[in-house]
Amino acid sequence: MKIIITPIFLLLLMMFQSIHTIQTSEFTITEATIVQIRAAFKQNKLTSKDLVKFYIKEIRKLNPILRAVIEVNPDAVHQAQVADQERKANATKSRFGLHGIPILVKENIATKDKLNTTAGSYALLKSVVPRDAGVVKKLRESGAIILGKASLSEWAHFRSSLAPSGWSARGKQAVNPYLATFDPCGSSTGSAISVATNMATVSLGTETDGSILCPSGANSVVGIKPTLGLTSRAGVIPISPRQDSVGPICRTVADAVYVLDAIVGFDNNDAEATRKASKYIPKGGYLNHLISDGLKGKRLGIMRAYPYFGFANDTKTLNKFEKHFAVLRRSGATLVENLEVDNFSQIGSMFIGETIALVAEFKIALNAYLKELVASPVRSLADVIAFNKKFADLEKIKEYPQDFFLEAENTNGIGELEKEALMNLTRASKDGFEKLMKENKLDALVTPYAKGSMVLAIGGYPGISVPGGYDKNGAPYGICFGGLKGSEPTLIEIAYGFEQATKFRKPPPIK
Ligand SMILES: *[C@@H]1O[C@H](CO)[C@@H](O)[C@H](O)[C@H]1NC(C)=O
Ligand SMILES: *[C@@H]1O[C@H](CO)[C@@H](O)[C@H](O)[C@H]1NC(C)=O
Ligand SMILES: *[C@@H]1O[C@H](CO)[C@@H](O)[C@H](O)[C@H]1NC(C)=O
Ligand SMILES: *[C@@H]1O[C@H](CO)[C@@H](O)[C@H](O)[C@H]1NC(C)=O
Ligand SMILES: *[C@@H]1O[C@H](CO)[C@@H](O)[C@H](O)[C@H]1NC(C)=O
Repeated sequence: MKIIITPIFLLLLMMFQSIHTIQTSEFTITEATIVQIRAAFKQNKLTSKDLVKFYIKEIRKLNPILRAVIEVNPDAVHQAQVADQERKANATKSRFGLHGIPILVKENIATKDKLNTTAGSYALLKSVVPRDAGVVKKLRESGAIILGKASLSEWAHFRSSLAPSGWSARGKQAVNPYLATFDPCGSSTGSAISVATNMATVSLGTETDGSILCPSGANSVVGIKPTLGLTSRAGVIPISPRQDSVGPICRTVADAVYVLDAIVGFDNNDAEATRKASKYIPKGGYLNHLISDGLKGKRLGIMRAYPYFGFANDTKTLNKFEKHFAVLRRSGATLVENLEVDNFSQIGSMFIGETIALVAEFKIALNAYLKELVASPVRSLADVIAFNKKFADLEKIKEYPQDFFLEAENTNGIGELEKEALMNLTRASKDGFEKLMKENKLDALVTPYAKGSMVLAIGGYPGISVPGGYDKNGAPYGICFGGLKGSEPTLIEIAYGFEQATKFRKPPPIK
């Protein structure tokens, strides 16, 4: 179902909203940040229970139209009450981290509770996960309340190339809250929509190539795609351990950084990658990098001439972003603009290796995930394909054929072709992005929308998407800052500096 928003209706809604904000100098939950919520807890103006109940009410009201949430945690209210008691008793844990903060996690992230973990597919509905995902374990340790599961493009958009973003058999079609006719992007669609519309304080998404950065931009929120392995992927329904990453999607850079601080670090169930990336975690955490003059002295690259890096001789897009470039310069950054990539056509042709590698890696990783489940109706990719055929109507496979699944099932491990593809990807990263960043001493590469996502994806590099404004018709768009592995502290300084200088985000015109 799609909602049609007429301009008059929109105007009335906007007027209503501005009156609403003017009247309430007191604390309001709508648009509240973690810092504001924690202050309200402290001043006894708010309880976690109030917060959870508010979000559940909003989900009940908005979700039939927006389809951003697949399941609400039936134990969330109780868990909030426990958090409130801990706070009342002044328990040490209640003074730190995400204590009492409700979070929605993408539905491909395992939780060992009453919530299902299905990647949006009925094939996994009766599956039982062995344990919380690594990031969920860290969230609980930090005191966060798992409010529910956010909707997604089914199987993180790795079942059907034809399925629209934000569609899954279980979640149905998610809708962009700013403009119903505008692509909400994916695959972390519900994570982005739910925080954009105040159905939760914060959320988690996952990215293999663009799945955090793109929906964040399209729904006017902030998304951080961390360096590969900085956050554990254990218990996340996989595509590829070489590219998958879990990260926060939130209304502000600061909120995203609070969540990042809570979820980074070593996890025994994703030991190799998380051990390797742990060295990047700064002493004292990422919060120290929320500095107001974060853009000062930063060197930012803009590729005006090459595809894969964003602006690619596209005058219209370049014109649209000139005002953003001006903000960056005004805030003290140096823009390095006429960058060259040696042997670009050769490097560009190596990117085709991404799909070749992903389909083979997916089959291996998914089969391993399914084998580890305590119970499951499906135990292999072949089982999932058979399930989809048997329940073709339920899984809509006539409209959205399972072409990626079939392609993946046809692979047979990492053979000669895959090895060549992987070598190409490594070289494309080394001779392309890394060389470009190092030779030009760049702190970040600036790209429009999520157009830099592939370059960041194939090398496991981090990126942050920040709201960049709205088109004439009200459709949001993002601007993305990408950097070398472990450059999150720098990227956070840049993203926060840009956000504070622009404050583009407005809540969506929907109530
Ligand atoms: C809570 O505990 C901390 C540390 O023990 C203390 O500084 C603070 O005053 C306590 N607050 C209340 C309200 O008791
Ligand atoms: C999980 O799925 C089962 C169906 O197998 C359903 O009965 C249950 O309500 C779901 N859990 C939640 C929290 O929605
Ligand atoms: C972009 O334009 C420049 C100068 O006009 C040209 O040299 C370059 O080849 C173009 N790049 C692409 C990818 O078309
Ligand atoms: C470009 O590619 C050619 C042919 O593979 C190679 O000989 C040359 O060294 C490369 N140039 C750079 C700057 O990498
Ligand atoms: C590897 O890259 C070369 C270009 O240098 C390309 O011709 C070849 O098709 C690529 N192979 C794979 C498997 O991606």
